[in-house]
Amino acid sequence: MGRHPGLLVMLAAALAGGALAAEPRYDVPYVPTPQVVVDEMLRIANVGPGDYVIDLGSGDGRIPVTAAQKFGARGLGVDLDPERVAEGEENARSAGVAERVRFVRRNLFETDIRPATVLTMYLLPSVNLKLRPRLLAELKPGTRIVSHDFDLGEWQPDRKAYLRKNVFLWIVPAQVAGRWRAAIALPAGERGFEIEFRQKFQEIDGVATIDGKHAPVWEPRLSGERISFVIVDYTGAEEASLYFEGTVDGGSMQGEIRRGVGSAQTVIPWRAVRK
Ligand SMILES: C[S@@+](CC[C@H](N)C(=O)[O-])C[C@H]1O[C@@H](n2cnc3c(N)ncnc32)[C@H](O)[C@@H]1O
Repeated sequence: MGRHPGLLVMLAAALAGGALAAEPRYDVPYVPTPQVVVDEMLRIANVGPGDYVIDLGSGDGRIPVTAAQKFGARGLGVDLDPERVAEGEENARSAGVAERVRFVRRNLFETDIRPATVLTMYLLPSVNLKLRPRLLAELKPGTRIVSHDFDLGEWQPDRKAYLRKNVFLWIVPAQVAGRWRAAIALPAGERGFEIEFRQKFQEIDGVATIDGKHAPVWEPRLSGERISFVIVDYTGAEEASLYFEGTVDGGSMQGEIRRGVGSAQTVIPWRAVRK
């Protein structure tokens, strides 16, 4: 298979030829993703039988069909072009996955993306950017987004592969910005713990206090709904690190703290709520 021209080249050709004037409804011209790139998009997103893959602008349906055929997932393809929708349906039938993959003629900007566990896109930079606020607001934390060729601007990908073109993977982060408080049973007794997170996409930093005294926060990390960070417990006879790990669920986060290291390590449960 030869190197395909890519969307921006196609778009320029379409503009020069006036083709877009004839197809004003479409935000992106049709260029299929090479099969090897489709495979990589689904592999990097770790697609499996529990997944529901939505492809926005699904063309001939190769992404949802491959997700069902090779990875056992269910899928939905949406495309504005009725010919493409019919091709998708036909391809799902001939691949023997019509039971698990559906195609609908719909504007991607009017598509309910909330049921997706994996969202795939081969669109254009401007379309990706227009979608970005909805991706962050509507997709569940932990949902994987994979884009062929184009990124999401200043939202840095969590992973990146290169096969002819870029393949980007993002994991939708939980929203943790703001103040949280917890009561934590430390060896020196129960202590009031507060932490304030600042967040930009999946990047976070935090400022914490234990009983009102400043406690620096190290290694704050957020991946989907999983959060972790480290602070020092100075309340006991000997200082020890507190390794927080937890899961964010709307207005609460909870998990375990490992206090100290090695054979001296103890485990303390924690649950924080939004202030
Ligand atoms: C670059 S192709 C990608 C096809 C397929 N996802 C793939 O990777 O092989 C973009 C597709 O988006 C469709 N499309 C363009 N604007 C759309 C819109 N507003 N809503 C839904 N589909 C759209 C086009 O008809 C085209 O099939």
